[in-house]
Amino acid sequence: MEAIRKAYERLGPDEFYRQHGATYRNPHEASLRQALAQAVHAWQPDLAQVLDLACGSGEVTLLLRELGSPAVTGIDPYTGAAYQERTGQAARPLSFEQIAAGALAGEQYSLIVCSFALHLVALSRLPLLLYHLAQLAPHLLIVTPHKRPHIAPGWHWALHGELLIERVRVRLYARATSPGEFQGLV
Ligand SMILES: C[S@@+](CC[C@H](N)C(=O)[O-])C[C@H]1O[C@@H](n2cnc3c(N)ncnc32)[C@H](O)[C@@H]1O
Repeated sequence: MEAIRKAYERLGPDEFYRQHGATYRNPHEASLRQALAQAVHAWQPDLAQVLDLACGSGEVTLLLRELGSPAVTGIDPYTGAAYQERTGQAARPLSFEQIAAGALAGEQYSLIVCSFALHLVALSRLPLLLYHLAQLAPHLLIVTPHKRPHIAPGWHWALHGELLIERVRVRLYARATSPGEFQGLV
């Protein structure tokens, strides 16, 4: 773990995942699964068409399938081989930067899940990415071992709730249709 942490710090996230993405596994997968399963149970988000953003080796995709989701699309520029191996499906190789430039414009999902990854986005780029995500789905679930990412008021999403389970935070955001006005849950 120490060697991995040092390589991560030395290379930075993009280069680290470019080099190691094919063999990526989340060492906290058991806690992540427990936290996300409880969040889905508590909030009952619509799992009809889910976007698993920065999908790694399919940690979220596999759980959501088990919870009954009929369609999960994985997106990740670096972990395609690991995702394909575990889920049997291809990940779309798009980066946060490409999505922030409109690469998914026109697509619609019932829910976006981003696990252990949104804190990797540079703060200066986060509002634009969040704007584009808000065009794609009414709800966003962020799974994170940190307090980050901090989503400021006015960044197109409003916090609906937070759970802290096994040191993993799950936050549910609803798209803000106008400042101070939020779309309700189903
Ligand atoms: C800690 S892993 C989390 C993976 C998985 N969601 C999970 O919960 O285990 C971070 C993920 O972010 C992806 N990533 C890194 N830089 C990225 C970028 N610029 N755009 C999109 N994804 C990126 C990596 O490929 C990696 O899969």
